[in-house]
Amino acid sequence: MAELDPATLMKKQVGEAAAALVQSGTIVGLGTGSTAAFMIQALGDRLKSGDLKEIQGITTSFQGEVLARECGIPLTTLDVVNYIDLAIDGADEVDPNLNLIKGGGAAHFQEKLVEAYAKRFVVIVDSSKLVDKLNLNFLLPVEVVPKALHPVTKAIEKMGAKVTLRMGVKKAGPVVTDQGNLILDVKFPHGIEDPAELEKTLNNIPGVLENGLFVNMADLVLVGSVIDGQPTVREIKR
Ligand code: A5P
Repeated sequence: MAELDPATLMKKQVGEAAAALVQSGTIVGLGTGSTAAFMIQALGDRLKSGDLKEIQGITTSFQGEVLARECGIPLTTLDVVNYIDLAIDGADEVDPNLNLIKGGGAAHFQEKLVEAYAKRFVVIVDSSKLVDKLNLNFLLPVEVVPKALHPVTKAIEKMGAKVTLRMGVKKAGPVVTDQGNLILDVKFPHGIEDPAELEKTLNNIPGVLENGLFVNMADLVLVGSVIDGQPTVREIKR
């Protein structure tokens, strides 16, 4: 296998470390993105080897569903079960209080739905995702019902933010989410002062389905780093 670059190596390392936390007979929330993909593959490997038995996954995106099926992970939904033992997912930014920005892959609505119902939520990131303050670098995604695009854009601009409609790659026009909605990427000039307040304020704008602030949700963050050429994983607990 070709040698992995350091960033990919860190993602693989934390993905595998998180997959090792999963116990047989449990219901697992399966996140979305390149880091979560390593975790899903590692869960599939544990199932194939017989090290792990009788888990059920709940996916957070079309991407995750396709991958989980390929990896042989039995799936269920929140229509069928009313709890999740452990959810594992990546993040775009993690602040010192373990508040997150998510939604770089436009999947934050389903991610928040699944992770909110999990007894334990473990976040997996490489060290580049740790920040002192949210939104200084990464834009905050807000999922909007198409009919409300104009009024929601205006309402968020009035709050002092710069708002950009996320455009597709190799597709003319905007990104359309798994729910059939649009994504506004939002930048506050000095970052986000009060994530808890902003999360509620944004979700109170009619036409907003969900924003990418995950406040007081993460129980544990596994951080991958490469030190002296060696991939390492450290824990940050709430
Ligand atoms: C998906 O919408 C996101 O919330 C991802 O979990 C987040 O963007 C992290 O993705 P990577 O692991 O690919 O960086």
